[in-house]
Amino acid sequence: MKTSSPSTFSRRRFFGIAGGTAAATFTARSWAQVAGANSDLRVGVIGAGGRGGAHLSAYSNMKGVRLVAKCDVDPKVSAEYRDPRKLLDAKDIDVISIATPNHWHALASIWAVQTGRDVYVEKPVSHNVSEGRRIVEFARKFGKIVQTGTQCRSSRTGIAEAVKWVQEGNLGKITVSRGLCYKNRGSIGKTEGPQPIPEVIDYDVWCGPAANIPLRRKKLQYDWHWVWNTGNGDLGNQGIHQMDICRWFLGENALAPKVLSFGGRLGYEDDGETPNTQVVYQAYAKAPLLFEVRGLPTKGHMGAGVGCIIHCEGGHVVVPNYESAIAYDKDGKEIKKWKGAESHFVNFIDAVRSRKSTDLYADILEGHLSSALCHTGNISYQLGQKKTREELDAALKADTNLTESFGRMAEHLAANKVDLTATPATLGMALTMDPVTETFPGNDAANAMLTRVPREPYAVPEKA
Ligand SMILES: NC(=O)c1ccc[n+]([C@@H]2O[C@H](COP(=O)([O-])OP(=O)(O)OC[C@H]3O[C@@H](n4cnc5c(N)ncnc54)[C@H](O)[C@@H]3O)[C@@H](O)[C@H]2O)c1
Repeated sequence: MKTSSPSTFSRRRFFGIAGGTAAATFTARSWAQVAGANSDLRVGVIGAGGRGGAHLSAYSNMKGVRLVAKCDVDPKVSAEYRDPRKLLDAKDIDVISIATPNHWHALASIWAVQTGRDVYVEKPVSHNVSEGRRIVEFARKFGKIVQTGTQCRSSRTGIAEAVKWVQEGNLGKITVSRGLCYKNRGSIGKTEGPQPIPEVIDYDVWCGPAANIPLRRKKLQYDWHWVWNTGNGDLGNQGIHQMDICRWFLGENALAPKVLSFGGRLGYEDDGETPNTQVVYQAYAKAPLLFEVRGLPTKGHMGAGVGCIIHCEGGHVVVPNYESAIAYDKDGKEIKKWKGAESHFVNFIDAVRSRKSTDLYADILEGHLSSALCHTGNISYQLGQKKTREELDAALKADTNLTESFGRMAEHLAANKVDLTATPATLGMALTMDPVTETFPGNDAANAMLTRVPREPYAVPEKA
């Protein structure tokens, strides 16, 4: 296993920049001046494996855009660079597109902004709340265009129109904004002791801002989603798309003042840590956002599986996929339908050219807020305790939405032969959030989980 020594790769030395003024060479000037003679935008992709493939093909097929460099720590993925710092050090790249695992998103984004680049970063934009806010601050300070990879936001004639229609009051007020991530996720297997890391991968770079700890699962790649050091569970994997749509319908532009989560990793024992069954309740004052994750086999709910149900006084709207929505009246009769999506990558490139972050369909602030709703849900869950079925019933009974959701969750688990007496679920800690400071007043344990212990030379910069 190779490692990179911090002394060799101090960020400032690496990029040859001083303090926070690195962008001076790029920011004020328009992209056209630096984009090369034929004014093509030159794109570099960091994390060119799984999802990175969609980035590569989007830019390869776009007019006025040249895909000039790829970076992936895994040599099996054909790329010019193995270390994000080396790609960022290259002088001939205007735009950075990031599809690494979650724990690298904020650091790669901020480094890219500091070196004068506009950024497309996959969802969730952060691995924790604080670093997500920091990307927003850096993007604003350096005047950079930063798009979040929540492509449902580019469903303009589809979901965006439905959001507008609901917000105009056509179905009365929203009563519950419900997100569903019903996606079958099997066991990742159970290993004994540390597992070998592929020799060819620089594991220290792979870990980056996350703790460099022995691998305790079979597969290094992809299954990082299911351990807290690098992933955010399915809530922050698939679920972030639907979390974002739920918040979009509500029109909420801050974190919710109260959050509670419950659930468990149930039905199998494996090396994963994150819950495969989870409810998150974000108690906004006007109407709650209620999110349900189910990783064991299940049917959908009210016409959606991975989707959203926006319950309103006069009916409901179902978002069954990434590009459409259907409205129903109180009697369940379909009354309106929307469909259509544009390219989220094209929207990003258009905004890079216009230099207006308001042209983005998923500006980094939207990405930060929706990612953070996943993180605060996970913090509540992680600070919880195992409870009996009766204790859960008692704790949730004051709220009809929670009681209903827990009831269906328990039925779903029973159908998968999960006995909540033998393998109890976890009741998370009820948390109070100050949406202005994005902290939990007076709760040291929860506040500690809003960020992570910095690991040099991969510490996510603190201040823009
Ligand atoms: N928007 C979407 O619809 C969508 C879909 C799938 C995945 N994603 C997101 O994309 C990201 C990647 O997911 P995935 O499924 O491709 O994961 P993956 O683990 O399959 O692939 C990640 C790739 O990044 C590489 N990598 C890891 N650390 C790196 C580093 N420091 N520098 C360069 N390369 C590095 C890996 O070698 C691998 O090739 C995740 O954050 C995920 O949430 C988004």
